[in-house]
Amino acid sequence: MDKQQTNKTISGFSKLSKRGKIRWIVENFFKDPEAVARELMSYWHGDEDQQRILDGFSENTISNFPMPFGVAPNFLINGQTYCVPMVIEESSVVAAASAGAKFWMNRGGFQAEVVDTKKVGQVHFSWKGSFKKLQSVFPELEEKLRTEAKSITANMEKRGGGVLDIQLLDLSHLEPDYFQLKVNFETCDSMGANFINSVLEAFGASLQNFVETHPIFDEDERDLDIVMAILSNFTPECLVRVKVSCPVQELGRCENGLLAVEFAEKFKKAVRIAQIDPFRAATHNKGIFNGIDAVVLATGNDFRAIEACGHTYAARDGQYRSLSRCTIENGIFEFSMEIPLALGTVGGLTKLHPIARRSLELLGNPSAEELMMVIASVGLAQNFAAVRSLITTGIQKGHMKMHLINILNHLQANEPEMQAAIAFFEDKTVSFTGVREFLERRRAGVVH
Ligand code: MEV
Repeated sequence: MDKQQTNKTISGFSKLSKRGKIRWIVENFFKDPEAVARELMSYWHGDEDQQRILDGFSENTISNFPMPFGVAPNFLINGQTYCVPMVIEESSVVAAASAGAKFWMNRGGFQAEVVDTKKVGQVHFSWKGSFKKLQSVFPELEEKLRTEAKSITANMEKRGGGVLDIQLLDLSHLEPDYFQLKVNFETCDSMGANFINSVLEAFGASLQNFVETHPIFDEDERDLDIVMAILSNFTPECLVRVKVSCPVQELGRCENGLLAVEFAEKFKKAVRIAQIDPFRAATHNKGIFNGIDAVVLATGNDFRAIEACGHTYAARDGQYRSLSRCTIENGIFEFSMEIPLALGTVGGLTKLHPIARRSLELLGNPSAEELMMVIASVGLAQNFAAVRSLITTGIQKGHMKMHLINILNHLQANEPEMQAAIAFFEDKTVSFTGVREFLERRRAGVVH
């Protein structure tokens, strides 16, 4: 191995102090070690206790990774107004959510309802025994599973949740010797991942013990292998429904001159395209998740779980489709969405992360169900704003303005230069070189 490669591997990295970790990284991966070390350390939290909390969320931490924390005000949901926290690195997302919220605030706002809040878990097992026999003693097994998991479920039951129902599934037609316990849970205001996984692992152990000891089974049926016990992130019954609607005429005339009725039809067509074409559906739904993920992150929830579930739901009939739909009936424009959102407002990071806690406070410390309705509304607002831009002005107009501001900041433009550049590029294509040349000319005294 040459020197270069040797330096890029290490054993015992996790045992190094934070400064030691930084030292090793900057010396082996960067051309300017001192400057990079200073930069990484400049993002450490000034308060050591706060930093310790942040470090506790992960491993091998060397610094913090800043992301913009913004808010989208004016969200009218079920008659209540919210100012929604959003953590997102993409320009235009917060602006789009705010625009969508404002548009619908004057047209009755968002109507949202939680359909159900069931979570799902599975114990996957391999077994060569008789399924019929196991089925015949299933009530006994279920009793044992519930009793032996009592120490884990008791607290959740006190809060009104726990194990709802347990199904025994024979899936051996899909994979030899493969069976499953499929379990529905209610986890109240917590997302419930730890609770569900602990219960499932206990169920696995009880199930093994059951076939080892129950007199109905022969000796050659006593060996049951738990392949895995884990929650499913696909929770189609942890579902929220949201819609906006108004008479077509109230949609108003668009920025590009499109009449309300033309806009409504074109919007419906755009959503329909996302229903039938997976290539468009992926982008359409990405726009929905632009809004959803930003609030999920801001409230300390698990955005990977939310995305995994949403995309699976979008493909539930075998084809990946738009999550939202649009109808125009009897002169009423309606834009709606059903989406599964397994969220928590207690447990996990929600109250531990200092800013997630503030996000929840900003939202009025909602229950998990209320948060589902808020987040679904933001997703729909985002989707509405994106599709509205796409079918009228195109999205580049807004994006390019943000892009221009980023370039101007990078080139350290002052406020008058910013204003002049925004006016100058209003009807021109923005490019880095173009903006640099504009500033150079202006700074050299050439008047535009
Ligand atoms: C960009 O992040 C999201 C959009 O592409 C969504 C869409 O196309 O609907 C604008």
